[in-house]
Amino acid sequence: MILLLWRFLKIMSNGYDTPMMKQHSEIKQKYPDAFLFFRCGDFYELFGNDAVEAVKILNIALTKRQNEIPMCGVPYHAADTYINRMIKAGKKVAICEQMEDPKSVKGIVKRAVTEIITPGTVLEEKHLLNKQNNYLLSLNIKGLWCEVSYIDISTGDFEVTEVEFTRDLNVLKALLFKVRPKEIIIPENIWEENAKLRELIAENENVLINRYPEWFFNKEETTAIVLKHFKISSYKAMGIGGEKTDITTPGALIRYLNDNFRGDLSHVRRLRYNNNIGTMELDESTIKNLELLRNQNDGTIVNSLLEVLDRTKTSMGARLLKKWIVTPLTDIEVITKRLDTVEFFYREQFILEKTNRSVKNIIDLERLASRLVTDKAGPKDLIGVKNSLEECLILKELLNNIPVLHDLVSKINPLEDVVSLINEAIKDEPATFIDEGNIVRDGYSEELSTLKDIATKGKEYIAEMEKNIKEKIAVPSLKIKYNKIIGYHFEVSKLQSVQLDSSFIIRQSLVNACRYTNKELSEFESKILTARDSINEMEKEIYYTVRNKVVECLDAIQMNADIISRLDIFTSFAEVAADYKYTRPLLNDGYELSIEEGRHPVVETKLDYNEFIPNDTAINANDFIMIITGPNMAGKSTYLRQNAIIVLMAQIGCFVPAKQAVIGVIDRIFTRIGSSDNLSRGESTFFVEMAETAYILNNATSKSLIIMDEIGRGTSTHDGLAIAWAILEYIRDKRNIGAKTLFATHYHELTELEKKGGFKNYSVAVSEKNDGFVFLHKIIDRPAERSYGVYVAQLAGIPDDVVQYAEKILENLQDSVKTDDVKVNLSFEQDLFGFTEEKKAVNKHKEIVDILKFLDLDRLTPLQALTVLYDLKKKSN
Ligand SMILES: Nc1ncnc2c1ncn2[C@@H]1O[C@H](COP(=O)(O)OP(=O)(O)OP(=O)(O)O)[C@@H](O)[C@H]1O
Ligand SMILES: [Mg+2]
Repeated sequence: MILLLWRFLKIMSNGYDTPMMKQHSEIKQKYPDAFLFFRCGDFYELFGNDAVEAVKILNIALTKRQNEIPMCGVPYHAADTYINRMIKAGKKVAICEQMEDPKSVKGIVKRAVTEIITPGTVLEEKHLLNKQNNYLLSLNIKGLWCEVSYIDISTGDFEVTEVEFTRDLNVLKALLFKVRPKEIIIPENIWEENAKLRELIAENENVLINRYPEWFFNKEETTAIVLKHFKISSYKAMGIGGEKTDITTPGALIRYLNDNFRGDLSHVRRLRYNNNIGTMELDESTIKNLELLRNQNDGTIVNSLLEVLDRTKTSMGARLLKKWIVTPLTDIEVITKRLDTVEFFYREQFILEKTNRSVKNIIDLERLASRLVTDKAGPKDLIGVKNSLEECLILKELLNNIPVLHDLVSKINPLEDVVSLINEAIKDEPATFIDEGNIVRDGYSEELSTLKDIATKGKEYIAEMEKNIKEKIAVPSLKIKYNKIIGYHFEVSKLQSVQLDSSFIIRQSLVNACRYTNKELSEFESKILTARDSINEMEKEIYYTVRNKVVECLDAIQMNADIISRLDIFTSFAEVAADYKYTRPLLNDGYELSIEEGRHPVVETKLDYNEFIPNDTAINANDFIMIITGPNMAGKSTYLRQNAIIVLMAQIGCFVPAKQAVIGVIDRIFTRIGSSDNLSRGESTFFVEMAETAYILNNATSKSLIIMDEIGRGTSTHDGLAIAWAILEYIRDKRNIGAKTLFATHYHELTELEKKGGFKNYSVAVSEKNDGFVFLHKIIDRPAERSYGVYVAQLAGIPDDVVQYAEKILENLQDSVKTDDVKVNLSFEQDLFGFTEEKKAVNKHKEIVDILKFLDLDRLTPLQALTVLYDLKKKSN
């Protein structure tokens, strides 16, 4: 009976009402949206729902406490790895520590949350990717405008911008794609009211979304917060007009950081207002289609433009390069300045190498600055700062007198007094942590030297004291010893102890010996003990003095970081230009786009030397729409992309893969390439294609460059052709758009447009040989004669029977089109070969012969040979 009652009580209590679980739920209530890492001895434990969710992310076992409460745990010493996984998955973590030593407390120990870690507020190097910014973003909407702010507290980068809040959310989509926030703060009502916005945000995987009530974004309060932070009197002082929206998000971000981050934000010195003037707007699909930052297959950097261009030596440079690639410029003067600098390094290889040598040695000053301010840095980082500043000085001396670099380099502040302070005060190889001592250079502080003398010379001093006393009072057994309980003491044998006078004070009496102290020894002891403590304290103090001096110079350090990042990119561009034989593009205000022997920067690196066939482009005000026909696999898409990429490269200030390029500055590049299904948004392939085309037609100007690859492919031939035709004529009309356009298509009917003016036909040359065709990848100025689709099908391995049947159908179709009778009276089995057993055997035979022909015996390992043999045997059955 008692047992039953006990069981009943246990079930009722569910294990949640033990004192520890009560404490847990009290704390958890305060952090409902965070995973509570609850310290229990050597582990952080997670309970309840936290545990159920966390095991999926952390890939650890779920257990149960008292058979009822789900729980999981991670060892304290390995916690970072697990926290990192939570952050990467876009989760918020609250670290709850034991605030007392469990041994010294009866009952439950006091616990409290000491740190909240969120994906957008982490600072520790271990949680961040070097070459990637880590943004926390906030957005708010007012009428037809959306204000967006984003901050990377690891670098101090802080920006606000206003974009149109269109129905299709295209601009916002592009911005989110570029910024790639790790965490978003959004007003609750906006989140609730905008299903499309919710969907858009949800597309960004592993992003933590924080919804806050409207008051959190209150205009007056958020403005006051920002003005207080930057110590300014109005937004106008920062060049922010705020006409379109209320500019509430920068304040909301600071407010959120004050609540959650708890660290010092003094390294956030500037809020930049990005008004998009002088830059080219790139939409998300263009960034994706042109594979600027990642490829479209697996989303990695491999085969992207970034991969080719990135020779940066610092993480700061790498981060800035990513921004440059997706923010081409439209201001010729600024582009020319960049090109001048790249050209200088391109020509002066010796200076380029010297610059590289220095830049390579410069640490991530941007991130370091924030770690110094928030006290997450250590003595070794000061040495990093010193070395980097020394390199800054070398760079300044090397480059300051060079006219094209003067404007940039003259702003380098090598902070020589900071360097000499660090040099004098800090050891070359100091300890990693501040509590360990071993930071300050010998001889820097007299007081510290004296203390160190006492500590190190203690042994000599003791030996001296022992000798002196022995000489004074003949007690041969006397020795000075040390133990943890009574500290330093004299030890004398019991027999001889009577010879000591009253200045010796007894501390301990043992069987055979007695232990004493005297005034001199106890003074020495307290000196030596306090010396050891004081040494660490003083070292710490000196470290902080030096650190504070560095922090005072944060503005200069951030400025240096920015200049180094730019130099890093310029030298990177110069190196790539030299390696791949790029040339300097000529930019002007005109309309022309003239490229001689242009290449695709990425495709060419994947081919052997000289294997890539260069192609020209000649677009002018009379012929500005290129209709490109030609066989599949000929290189139409490559050619289209290469032109867009060459323009983009030129407008970020980079040399281009061409013999010569004259480019009338482009205001925007639009691309409509391939069929990017978006089933998650509930839109069909064709719908997406049309929506993207609509966006282009509604936004392109005569200064834009439009790349369209096989528009209309996703629907019936007639519909597709009709739409493509109409779109082209619309673009051609200068009253509508008149943009330079490259249009690849398999609709040969479109070549008729040439007669209307503005259009020009091109195709990719093919040479016919006895046993097939060779794609020459050469663009020629006449339309293609046929499509070779069936031939490509054969190349791709479509069974011969199908290919031959297709050829028959094709012939028939072409004949029937001529006679206006589109019926094809063929049947696979009857009219052609039919799958007889005999035919199958012939096919098999051919397949085996093909495999044997293809084999390169010199490269085959014995094991591979055996596998091939095994396959062949299987096929022959
Ligand atoms: N200029 C070139 N020089 C050398 N090889 C090239 C060139 N252009 C393209 N290629 C090669 O041909 C392949 C096919 O090119 P691409 O995809 O551009 O053809 P396409 O004409 O668009 O074909 P489809 O009509 O099937 O879309 C590329 O992957 C590349 O390897
Ligand atoms: Mg193609």
